[in-house]
Amino acid sequence: MAETSNGSNLAEITAAAMAALEAADGEAALQAFERTWLGKQGPLAELLASIPRLPAADRPRVGKAANQLKRELAEGLDARRSAIAEAALRQARSADDYDASLPAPRSPRGSLHPITRIRREVEDIFGSMGYRVLDGPEVELDHYNFEALNFPANHPARDLQDTFWCDNEGHVLLRTHTSPVQIRAMQRLKPPFRAIVPGRVFRNEAVDAKHEHTFHQVEGLVIDEGIHVGHLIGTLKGVLREIFASEIDIRLRPGYFPFVEPGFEVDIRLPDAGSRGGVLADWVEFCGAGMVHPNVLRAGGVDPERYSGFAFGMGLDRMVMLRYGIDDIRHFMAGDLRFLTQF
Ligand code: PHE
Repeated sequence: MAETSNGSNLAEITAAAMAALEAADGEAALQAFERTWLGKQGPLAELLASIPRLPAADRPRVGKAANQLKRELAEGLDARRSAIAEAALRQARSADDYDASLPAPRSPRGSLHPITRIRREVEDIFGSMGYRVLDGPEVELDHYNFEALNFPANHPARDLQDTFWCDNEGHVLLRTHTSPVQIRAMQRLKPPFRAIVPGRVFRNEAVDAKHEHTFHQVEGLVIDEGIHVGHLIGTLKGVLREIFASEIDIRLRPGYFPFVEPGFEVDIRLPDAGSRGGVLADWVEFCGAGMVHPNVLRAGGVDPERYSGFAFGMGLDRMVMLRYGIDDIRHFMAGDLRFLTQF
């Protein structure tokens, strides 16, 4: 390109580019325009590349004009693209079969999270058995989460439920279980009563396929005269039968929780566990349970001489995993639509 005639060269480029833009009538032509006039190798790119070789006095003027042209061509391209799209839309709307009264396309609808589904089912099942559904705070006081549940300060049992503290003094925390609502319930309701508490709980522990920092439990609490372990076992079996629509094997092992005595770990096994893989193939730890400790009854203002009670805390996530054959608990909090839209 002639290095001395850049003024007229620029004018030629401008004229040719504008004509090409004017003539472009569709996406393919627009892309060709972009390649030729805004790409790395077209006439304009060559002109810009030649600027360092121009006489020093000409460089600023030519450089400024060439860059300005490049901007104008890019803007022109955008404008032409919108104009073509608009024309296409106008044409579609004026076609014979266009019906302006048709409803707009629907935006995609989500679905209920599997945890929400099972929680509602569990609420219905217990509701039909005379349980009320209670709620409690996720940000809880140490007093309710530990102290009143018979975990004295510095007791090693606290290590089993490492938590996320919300203050420096160690009074406020994210609840590690739904059991604090046992105390809140006893303080508010007069026995006898039956209640469940579904809710989110938090633990500071290593995350793997079976453990999450955030998960869901359903606490159960029954306080009445003459309540014993038989009531607990019968209740759990009945509920499991409803949830899984079949007879489920259940196994009690002694378990230590400071707020129950005796305490149990309850495991369950699906009828076809052997044919399943991963965490579902064998006995699965399902819930902690036991008879409410007299100290806990007292902390809730209930007379242990007159009343007894059972309590349990079931893992709602576990229940969902067993029911749908999900082998990794981390799916629940991941927010991945490929997982969520399956429910
Ligand atoms: N809160 C206990 C836990 O999260 C479970 C539990 C609840 C145990 C009620 C006994 C009675 O591990």
